[in-house]
Amino acid sequence: MLLIRCFTIFFAISAMAILPQIQGMSAFELRHRSFGFSSSPFSAALEILQKRIGYNFTSIGLLRRAMTHSSFSEENNRALSLLGASIIQTSASMYYLQRDIDISSKDLSLRLTEISKVETSCAVDGTRLGLQNMVRVSPKTDSSAPSVVCGAFRAIFGAIALDTGKSDDAGSFFWAVHDAKAGGALAS
Ligand SMILES: *[C@@H]1O[C@H](CO)[C@@H](O)[C@H](O)[C@H]1NC(C)=O
Repeated sequence: MLLIRCFTIFFAISAMAILPQIQGMSAFELRHRSFGFSSSPFSAALEILQKRIGYNFTSIGLLRRAMTHSSFSEENNRALSLLGASIIQTSASMYYLQRDIDISSKDLSLRLTEISKVETSCAVDGTRLGLQNMVRVSPKTDSSAPSVVCGAFRAIFGAIALDTGKSDDAGSFFWAVHDAKAGGALAS
């Protein structure tokens, strides 16, 4: 009886000691322990990411791919990122034209450029989602580089579009994430 109690306490203490380590795991550890099992830190990161974007994937493989940089593997987020960029552009064009059908092509073009900027828009949104700690890259690649974070960010919306079969759904998830910044600066 005492022995069982000792073991229970031992396991409780072990769990308390291990948990913070898992939560504080670095991007480096994440990418080097990300193979296979559903309980891996990479899978755990994908769970967290789904919560943050408010979307559960039917095919989680799409999100895995979206969070994989081309330096890490042949199966990567490049093409998904291209689709995502196009979805963001389409969705932003809709947004601005719905608000003002008389917007000039010059103004619209400026706003689209603004929303597509890597450093000031795309990487900012992606970093806020914590993608720099989730995206898998090669050991030589900096996962917090704006182009890496931005590629992963855009790829999320490409992945959602493929998962739902609808690009407009993916567009609404983009706005939800983008507008969360600075209390919706776009509404100005
Ligand atoms: C996603 O799945 C989790 C766990 O099954 C659930 O709690 C959550 O409400 C789901 N989120 C959405 C947006 O469907």
